[in-house]
Amino acid sequence: MPLHSRYNGGVRFRIRPFKKADFRTLWRIDQACFEPQLAYSQAELDFYMRRPGSFTLVAQDGAADDGTESERDKNKDDSAQGKRGSTDEIADSGILGFIVAESRRRTGHIITIDVVEKARRSGVGSALMQAAEEKLLRAGATSVALETPVNNAAAIRFYKSEGYFAEKTVAGYYSNQMDALVMTKALASTS
Ligand SMILES: CC(C)(COP(=O)(O)OP(=O)(O)OC[C@H]1O[C@@H](n2cnc3c(N)ncnc32)[C@H](O)[C@@H]1OP(=O)(O)O)[C@@H](O)C(=O)NCCC(=O)NCCS
Repeated sequence: MPLHSRYNGGVRFRIRPFKKADFRTLWRIDQACFEPQLAYSQAELDFYMRRPGSFTLVAQDGAADDGTESERDKNKDDSAQGKRGSTDEIADSGILGFIVAESRRRTGHIITIDVVEKARRSGVGSALMQAAEEKLLRAGATSVALETPVNNAAAIRFYKSEGYFAEKTVAGYYSNQMDALVMTKALASTS
């Protein structure tokens, strides 16, 4: 898939399908993106990623594609010395974010979208959403729905910028009893 370039953040990346070896890094990213009560356990993330009709797309740092030294290469020696933590593990992978989505007949559903903090506001989230929506459209979806915590202002702004509208709130949707905002977007005309 093509490389995307954004010069304001200097982030180059490509969107690719999930590989089995990515799983632990994606879980680490999810843990870093959300507070403990909202982040998925490994079992939950695995469950959503494997559900029938579900797919996962990954945003991969483009540095490895153009011969630039990647974070992974720079950190090889540290790794050997066993000094590395989860933040380093994420940097080593070159993964900047991911999206899990599923198609349920004519409705697509975004399960989660997570972008690492250092890569935000560089178009990574937008590229992941567009790639997922294209895939959902090809699977026959005419609309997409998602839920987000009512207090996640950044995500709500992001989804609105992607063309999603707030449809309703669902009281106590999350395990911490936080309400969810359900947002939807029409992908194609139903006529
Ligand atoms: C929400 C999230 C996925 C956005 O990813 P991103 O890569 O930063 O998004 P993009 O760079 O593609 O942003 C596209 C547009 O969305 C809007 N937007 C994104 N983040 C925003 C923020 N923090 N505040 C206001 N608007 C924002 C802007 O209009 C932005 O365009 P601009 O940068 O040209 O102004 C990312 O912030 C994230 O992973 N957050 C933590 C996890 C999360 O909350 N996920 C949503 C689960 S419900």
